[in-house]
Amino acid sequence: MRLLSSKVVGQRHALEFIVPSIQLHQSGLAPEGRPVGIFLLLGPTGTGKTKTVEALAEVLHGDSKRIVKVDCGEFQSEHEVSKLIGAPPGYVGHTETEPVITQKILDEARSEDCELALVLFDEIEKAATSLTQLLLGVLDKGTLRLGDGSTVNFDQSIIFLTSNLGAREMMKEIHPTLGFDTQPRRAGVDLAEHLERVGIRAVQKHFSPEFVNRIDGVITYRPLDAVSLVAILDHHVAELQRHVHNRLGHRSFEIEIEPAARYFMLDKGTSVEYGARELKRTIHRHLTQPLAAMVANGEIDPGAKVTVNLGEEGEDLTLVAEGGSPLPVEHCCSVLAVDDNNTLLVWMDRVLTEEGFEVATAASIDEAMKKVSEAAPNTVILDYLLPDGDGVSLAVDLLKQNPAMRAVVMSGAELEQEDILLCQRYDIPVLIKPFVAAELLAALEASSLKGEQRKSASS
Ligand SMILES: Nc1ncnc2c1ncn2[C@@H]1O[C@H](COP(=O)(O)OP(=O)(O)O)[C@@H](O)[C@H]1O
Ligand SMILES: [Mg+2]
Repeated sequence: MRLLSSKVVGQRHALEFIVPSIQLHQSGLAPEGRPVGIFLLLGPTGTGKTKTVEALAEVLHGDSKRIVKVDCGEFQSEHEVSKLIGAPPGYVGHTETEPVITQKILDEARSEDCELALVLFDEIEKAATSLTQLLLGVLDKGTLRLGDGSTVNFDQSIIFLTSNLGAREMMKEIHPTLGFDTQPRRAGVDLAEHLERVGIRAVQKHFSPEFVNRIDGVITYRPLDAVSLVAILDHHVAELQRHVHNRLGHRSFEIEIEPAARYFMLDKGTSVEYGARELKRTIHRHLTQPLAAMVANGEIDPGAKVTVNLGEEGEDLTLVAEGGSPLPVEHCCSVLAVDDNNTLLVWMDRVLTEEGFEVATAASIDEAMKKVSEAAPNTVILDYLLPDGDGVSLAVDLLKQNPAMRAVVMSGAELEQEDILLCQRYDIPVLIKPFVAAELLAALEASSLKGEQRKSASS
């Protein structure tokens, strides 16, 4: 229950109504031969009706999408209703009309954790009369007969119907300009009861008494107050922050939102008409997208704090990244080591593999060229004196052919003056033999740093 009310904000009374029937099911005491519960969720748009069912799916099945959902808006005309149950056999177009609900689909909406299937008929006021008739059958008998004659059994399921019937009248009762910092004309329990009456009256006008009688509970969602809207905003922002941490790992950063920026997003993202429905999109547009651009441009260092504030004109948000430090350049992942000293090659192979590099080895220029043409490594590390030529010339050739490649030269003796100059010109670190593992790694690091500098200088 606590988990649920952290996901569905400000609608405690709705959850208190729904949760007991889930507990009834979990206790095994729910009556058989009918759905565990049938609830009609009423109230203005964007107040959390659909969200409630998604949150239940998340809590019960670990997946907010594990719902059998029927958007009644898609079944507005009589002939579309056959899409729901599939056409009878022999009918033209029989093969194309897979029913939207089948026993298999319903069973797949259950999970190992929970046997209870959540069925949602969303925005039922939009449905054609024949769909309402079908629904009546479902509510009455707990089964649905499909076009092909088979039946779907709604035992061990909860059926939610949502509708904004009466929402307009409700809004008039509340305030012409709901949203932020406005007070309803009536308050608290008084208002809640009143809205419930308005809702039920609208439902009674729209649906037959049989229909209304089969519903276990009519729950009216209240317009969200300022506190709830703030909580929903915080929720979305926390989700974004979690996402940043998950996706960027050690390159992650912190987001801090100044009060003025929060007001801006609340102002843009919430309204009488759509409740909190636009909040997510507003955050996406004014926060997520600009952040993504900054990340893509390398404007946010790992560990930085990004402060979000209202722009000077008050028309937009400004994002400023401070602190953090650039990461040491990542190790390149593959290395080709070229030396005619096999003992040294074996040792380097072991050291570098332990460090997470993918290592290939070669004993001559000839062999090295073959290996490079098979799979070009990120870095080559070459002995200065090779049986069939010198390592510096090979390194320079390779760098000319593969500008992204990095190279290190190893040598047991002083290099020729012209080779020293070449190494300087091509940013090739020289590793003097004998060397220890740390020196080898440092040289690789240096070559990759120089490679980065070369890359950014040329771009
Ligand atoms: N009570 C609420 N708690 C948390 N989020 C909400 C709430 N009401 C609306 N939202 C946000 O607005 C979006 C639309 O809400 P939804 O449940 O689809 O509205 P409706 O009442 O029209 O079915 C949700 O995805 C969620 O991000
Ligand atoms: Mg909805």
